[in-house]
Amino acid sequence: MSPLAWDQSFNVGHREIDRQHKELLAFLNEAESLLLTSESYSITARLNLLERLLIFVEQHFKLEKAVMQKDKSSDTAVYDHWRSQKSFDAKIYTLYRDLLAKRLVLDSDILNMIRDEFHNHVNKGKNLPPQEVFRQIPRRACQISGFPL
Ligand SMILES: [Fe+2]
Repeated sequence: MSPLAWDQSFNVGHREIDRQHKELLAFLNEAESLLLTSESYSITARLNLLERLLIFVEQHFKLEKAVMQKDKSSDTAVYDHWRSQKSFDAKIYTLYRDLLAKRLVLDSDILNMIRDEFHNHVNKGKNLPPQEVFRQIPRRACQISGFPL
């Protein structure tokens, strides 16, 4: 599968969030490259991949939550955002535990999880609306809150 390219339609209008979403896309492409072309199967490589993803997700959602709170997003929106993070965390942990226990984990399961998250979270999300949420944040609000645009 060819790497997925960044599309301008993915932009939410917040410089750091867009940069991190690009990082998630790069991570997805890197994971595809590793898992689909690697000649030797390594559980360690897959665990490392999931660990990096967990760290990224924690930092990314923290930033988004801070932006949402500074922008006075509704409690419901912040809560939905939090639930989305926990849901993604749970998926990562499940695969991580399965790998540790040496249960069968298909590379396609790992890739589909990341791919689904990217598309749900960044591109055309249905259950998580950060793209829409952040599109609604006026540029001035970001400037006032001290977050770079
Ligand atoms: Fe995001």
